[in-house]
Amino acid sequence: MSRILRKISVLTLALLIAGPIWADELAIRNCGWCHGMSGQGYSKAPRLAGQRRDYIVNQLRAFATHQRDETLGVKYMWNATANLDPLTAGKLADYFSALPPEAMKDGESDLVVDGRAIFENGVPDENIPACQACHGPQAQGVRALPRLGGLSFLYLKRRLEDWAQGRDLSGTPMPRIAAALSPTQIAALASFLSFVEVGASER
Ligand code: HEC
Ligand code: HEC
Repeated sequence: MSRILRKISVLTLALLIAGPIWADELAIRNCGWCHGMSGQGYSKAPRLAGQRRDYIVNQLRAFATHQRDETLGVKYMWNATANLDPLTAGKLADYFSALPPEAMKDGESDLVVDGRAIFENGVPDENIPACQACHGPQAQGVRALPRLGGLSFLYLKRRLEDWAQGRDLSGTPMPRIAAALSPTQIAALASFLSFVEVGASER
């Protein structure tokens, strides 16, 4: 009898420990269906690996509260964040931010030189600030400011275009900055950034 009881209590203990871990893994897998199991991004879903933790947390909140309202965010992320509690959101941000990022390198290599020049110096005559002033000299991000280096060309381009068209007005400087960029400048910046690699040690 006592042996059965002991077995039951061991089982209960195992469930108590395994339960939460299992739930977290389920949440990670749910995100991985779209963002890739190693968080490197897939198709329209951007890379999360190596992204700034606090930025991820802020974005999950911005989708959940419907502040981030660009077309693909509405279509995919409103649903994915609808029932996400803050604790799980924080754990998912811990998990994905700690994965090593890989550069997508899917931009146009002819545009890299132009893109780098805007990233580093801006275009003062056109009211375009140097991106590195906020996003860091290696586009690695800082605190809640996102890493841009190595994100996919298509994602970066779409994000800047969405802002230029007045989507996602969650109170950041980006809509104003994106509105000052021409389509050629957006393509150049997105191309340059898609090739930027930053090693894990530099995070
Ligand atoms: C059905 C597909 C799908 C699922 C499931 C999904 N995502 Fe997304 N996610 C997307 C797409 C597509 C975007 C890009 C939206 C855009 O273009 O603005 C995105 C954007 C994001 C962003 C913004 C990234 C950035 O650089 O600004 C974060 C953070 C994110 N997802 C985290 C998650 C997490 C965490 C989960 C799991 C709880 C998850 N996603 C589940 C498709 C998905
Ligand atoms: C004054 C500071 C500042 C400058 C300068 C700036 N940014 Fe940003 N950028 C931000 C902030 C803050 C965010 C995060 C917005 C949020 O949390 O929703 C951001 C977000 C972004 C994102 C979204 C990344 C993602 O994962 O979705 C892109 C792309 C971006 N910036 C590109 C640029 C480019 C290109 C330039 C230069 C032309 C630039 N930024 C200059 C402050 C800045």
